[in-house]
Amino acid sequence: MNRAGFMLMLGLAVCAPALALELTASEQAGKRLYREGLSSSDAQLTARVGASNMTVPASVLPCASCHGTDGQGRAEGGVRPPSLDWQRLALGQGPRQSNGRSYPAYTGATLGRAIQHGVDPAGNRLDPAMPRFELTLADQRNLNAYLKRLAEDRDPGVEEGVLRLGTLIPTTGPLAGAGHVVRAVLEDGVAQLNQQGGIHGRRLELLVADPGDDQASAEQALQRLLGEQQAFALVSPLAPMLDQRLATVLEQQGVPLIGSAPRSGGSVQIFDPLPGIDTQLLSLAAHARANLGLAPGALRVVYAGTDQAALAELVRERLQQQGWQPAPIEAFSGQAVQGQGVVFIGRAQAFAELAAALQAAGRAPYLFAASSQVTGAVAALPAYWSQRVFLAYPFVPGDWTEQGMASLAGLQQRQRLDPRQASLQVNTLCALRLLTEALKQSGRDLSRERLVAALEGLHDIDTGLTPALGFGPGRRQGMAGAHVVAVALPGPRFTSVAPYRPVPVSP
Ligand code: HEC
Repeated sequence: MNRAGFMLMLGLAVCAPALALELTASEQAGKRLYREGLSSSDAQLTARVGASNMTVPASVLPCASCHGTDGQGRAEGGVRPPSLDWQRLALGQGPRQSNGRSYPAYTGATLGRAIQHGVDPAGNRLDPAMPRFELTLADQRNLNAYLKRLAEDRDPGVEEGVLRLGTLIPTTGPLAGAGHVVRAVLEDGVAQLNQQGGIHGRRLELLVADPGDDQASAEQALQRLLGEQQAFALVSPLAPMLDQRLATVLEQQGVPLIGSAPRSGGSVQIFDPLPGIDTQLLSLAAHARANLGLAPGALRVVYAGTDQAALAELVRERLQQQGWQPAPIEAFSGQAVQGQGVVFIGRAQAFAELAAALQAAGRAPYLFAASSQVTGAVAALPAYWSQRVFLAYPFVPGDWTEQGMASLAGLQQRQRLDPRQASLQVNTLCALRLLTEALKQSGRDLSRERLVAALEGLHDIDTGLTPALGFGPGRRQGMAGAHVVAVALPGPRFTSVAPYRPVPVSP
């Protein structure tokens, strides 16, 4: 090799992150069959399902849908799809046990028999929950070839000694200030974890990408993170411009995200430690009913800004599910709205304008809003509104334990962060905390599916800074409500009037 060629090779070796596992053409074809149920030929593969032998396209029931893309099997239902680890199936010594069956090691031929006819190497019938697949010889060969490599075919970002996490942080524009805070909290947390030896023998590496200021640039940054840079999961990205696209891309690629995102609560891949605005507002409504005596028809959802309309509609629907009879949502454009209680969605400036318009018209309804949206306007409200404004807070200083405060203060000191921006710091800390906990519980044999399952299994996680957090199957917000805080004016003085209690999930 000439010198230039050598340098080129070195350069590549240094710049490119270690490539994902190289698969042969046959293994690639097997992977497609495994994950998508597709043949290497044009033929449509079929599977017979259940005791009745109903025929369905294999693409409807690919192996991965039951055994997991990582082949680790799943712990759902009665008869469990076992792990397809080649070591377990074929290589290890002695008999294997699974679902009450005992059988010797699989060979290529007996594996084919299990997949096509539902019989294990000892001649035991597999449970009919395992479909029988009609495969060509070539398909079976490809599948066997891939099953041998499945255990090594790790998700992107998981390497021998490194685990890559990604985030999107704007360095310019209106979110740059928040970006600075989030980045500092993440980098600090990752450094602390690495000092303690990382997680399961892997050092954490944080990949930070700048989403720029529009959807196109943000999507490019996201694709780069997940593509060439190989982020395993995302943590606390700040990229509202991606909106719906973020959830779509994450779902297509099976990438988990821990943090707040525009579709929090609405996507299986997105785990938000803190409650969404809709959920927070429900806590205010519960207070309005229980303590302020508002009747079911007395609440009205008012929003300012077209970008808030969808959220407003969602809030109205959820109020309805809780037994309220709210009027249709109303866009605020300077008018004094009706209603004994107004649930407001929008920015601080508009909230101040709404209060002024109501006061000018001599009306004084209760005003309900999420602190994260309107706090900026509250201090300047006139005394007229004293004890009429109720704000939802995911956490209040009363939630802070000594240990929680010490770790927050330590962070602020190390990273020179402003204690007045604690809310964003706590939010990011919680995301990192839950991610870390779930990574620890996933074990060293890490995959994205395992991480999602571990996140779903988190309960009662004590952050020292918030009420206890947790997720669940189908539950993607760490808290199902918020504290209710009343505002006394002038001042303002904030008093917690109803502690956080989970809002009951309606059927
Ligand atoms: C609808 C869910 C489902 C799908 C799809 C599925 N399996 Fe299974 N599989 C199972 C269940 C459940 C069992 C356990 C049966 C038992 O133990 O009696 C099983 C058992 C097996 C076994 C036996 C393992 C052992 O230890 O004896 C093998 C091998 C296997 N599956 C391979 C595959 C392959 C390869 C595919 C795709 C071509 C596939 N499965 C698709 C549910 C599924």
